[in-house]
Amino acid sequence: MEFAETTAFALSVAREAADLVMRILPEGMTSKNVRHKGPRDLVTRADHEAERLITARIRTRFPNHGILAEEGTAVSGDAARDSARWIVDPIDGTTNFAHGVPMFAVSIGYEERGTLRSGVVVVPPLGEFFVAEHGLGAFLIVGSAEPQRLATSRVTELSEALIATGLPGEPVRSVHVATIPSFMRDAQEVRIMGTAAAHLAYVAAGRLDAFWEPGLNPWDVAAGILLVEEAGGRVSDFNGRPISPPGGDILATNGPLHITLLERVSRRA
Ligand code: IPD
Repeated sequence: MEFAETTAFALSVAREAADLVMRILPEGMTSKNVRHKGPRDLVTRADHEAERLITARIRTRFPNHGILAEEGTAVSGDAARDSARWIVDPIDGTTNFAHGVPMFAVSIGYEERGTLRSGVVVVPPLGEFFVAEHGLGAFLIVGSAEPQRLATSRVTELSEALIATGLPGEPVRSVHVATIPSFMRDAQEVRIMGTAAAHLAYVAAGRLDAFWEPGLNPWDVAAGILLVEEAGGRVSDFNGRPISPPGGDILATNGPLHITLLERVSRRA
């Protein structure tokens, strides 16, 4: 598979970041330096170290590009370079990571003039690299095996759909939580795995049929949105509008389920 320079770069940096965070995962909470950014928003030294590593690599390779990263790195970039920007979550699913639960992701997205071009979501404990490139498709890479092309599922009935959501911070959380039980009743099952980036990668891979969550940040979803779209799925806000810039209320589906789920989430938006 011949990836564009930005995609190949994102993949190689994601590999380095995945190795870094996996070395820290077995440590206890004190050694991980678990801190509160907000009442239920954690950060660890692994988030900071991985962000430093990823953003240093970007600055060396693409010194004119902008960067937006969860733990504070914000570089505006060079407007003459057509607003090329990297959107980075060094650990998506920090709460799982802090507790030693091996389900979290590193997410690296790249956009030009507001269009997502490259995206990589890696789930380090599983060694799975989900890679998307605008116009080329979405792929799963495991070890040294050839990239495997991804496609969203074909499920059409909510009762047969395995769907996922997340728990955003307050004040959005309380409103959102009250809407989840009806999906638990009507869908096949509902998952909350604790990482929006992995949820989106799993929709792209056809493992989940849909994912929805309000109030997301750009770094949670930039790479994942491209993955779902390139795998043939649909992504919109809760009113059916395209997501631009990445973030906010996100409904990502396999495609066939989009209207059914949109009708339900728009009543609650
Ligand atoms: C969080 C995760 C979680 C989602 C939250 C996000 P973080 O990201 O994606 O699944 O429900 O809304 O903030 O803080 O672990 O990078």
